[in-house]
Amino acid sequence: MTTNPIAEKSAPAQLHPHLDLVGSDIEVPLVSGGWRRYVNLDYAASTPALVEVAARLEAFLPYYSSVHRGAGIKSQISTAAYEGARESLREFFHGRPTDTVVITRNTTDSMNLLASCLPGGAKAVAFTSEHHATLLPWGHTQGSIQYLTMPKSAGQAISALGEYLTEHPDTALVAVTGASNVTGEVWPIAELTGLAHEHGARIVVDAAQMAPHLPIDMTSLDVDYLAASGHKLYAPYGAGVLIGRADWLDSADAYLRGGGAVEFVTPSEVLWSSGASRHEAGSPNVLGAVAMATACETLANFGMERIAAEEIDLAQYARRRLGEVPGIEVYRLWEPEAPRIGVVTFNLPPYDHSHLAAILSAEFGIGVRHGCFCAHPLILELLNVSDDQAATFRAELKAGRRPRLPGAVRMSIGIGTTREDIDYLVASLTNIVEHGTSWTYAIDPTTGEFAPDPDPRPWPSLPIALAR
Ligand code: ALA
Repeated sequence: MTTNPIAEKSAPAQLHPHLDLVGSDIEVPLVSGGWRRYVNLDYAASTPALVEVAARLEAFLPYYSSVHRGAGIKSQISTAAYEGARESLREFFHGRPTDTVVITRNTTDSMNLLASCLPGGAKAVAFTSEHHATLLPWGHTQGSIQYLTMPKSAGQAISALGEYLTEHPDTALVAVTGASNVTGEVWPIAELTGLAHEHGARIVVDAAQMAPHLPIDMTSLDVDYLAASGHKLYAPYGAGVLIGRADWLDSADAYLRGGGAVEFVTPSEVLWSSGASRHEAGSPNVLGAVAMATACETLANFGMERIAAEEIDLAQYARRRLGEVPGIEVYRLWEPEAPRIGVVTFNLPPYDHSHLAAILSAEFGIGVRHGCFCAHPLILELLNVSDDQAATFRAELKAGRRPRLPGAVRMSIGIGTTREDIDYLVASLTNIVEHGTSWTYAIDPTTGEFAPDPDPRPWPSLPIALAR
């Protein structure tokens, strides 16, 4: 392996030195030759695993077996681990003892599960700024959905919801994010929960982005349902969670139909289970649940308040430093002082978002996400895309063409991020502004995304199949 002059010999000290992450010192190839430490600024999409999580899973793996259905001691240990994980997740989010804790695949799955459990005819409401996971599931199988125009401040969110609920007292559920995956803005959950309850509605909080960065206490907030993802909580092993009031979950049809969700079946009748198992048919993701719970325990032991304080400071630093890049456009829905987690979304004209992300990866070894972040209406609003332009994109897509869709680049931080990482991103963007690119790029016809052309970067040799 060759090392170019800009490669660092070792990773700088992490924000949380003893919350180590798997792969934090991985070096990646640059398109111009040489290698450098990968600068991961894509935590909002998926976080690396905590070393603690990987280590405890490795210790558990020899005991892994079936759950809920084996007399063997491994099966009993696995069952205890799975049920122990459920209780750890309840504890981390401060769920009530009466709440049902369903292990799901991720936040999207949790939201779809809750949507399938809405009582008949129930009406839900959400702001159009939501991530698609919280925007789209409602009204698909059960009930209906109304959308509220995205608010320009937390105060406007509170007043708009208050007005809506006063005019629509039959609303059953408010679906809202804890923190935006595009702007990082932290929503006023306590106030929105109070409003929902005042008007006889329940609230579900999409905590996918909030959970890794801010402490959450469902009980003191009185939140009815909370959804979160392990892969954003330093446990990328395929589990998520839905925690909340048991009655709707127990009255609804099983989310998945099959073994484990039933008490007794005859050819003519099914007696469905109650509790979490009603919605967890099939062999569950034991390792994912244990991983997510272990991550939560590790974060809680370190202290979520401490993580939040340090990350908010780093997020403000990132926002300020990025603002220094000549020509950058940083997006926000709310006023600059609004509380935000460490997510900053921007464009650097004249670069297409996909082109800029490809340059950052290929020439600088920086990982960011680009595109619309599964929040199309919010991106259209932030980028001032007109209804006519949106209609044109839609028509092009329906006709099977691949128009260049509007989008942006997003950097997002987590417990492995350092000020040096932010400075390196800012220096790289400034370098692009001042000197342009040092490589050629073309749109890959398969993905529709920019990629280095040619791309001589060697990939690591891994003992798994890679489709390339
Ligand atoms: N929703 C995740 C993101 O914002 C995947 O990147």
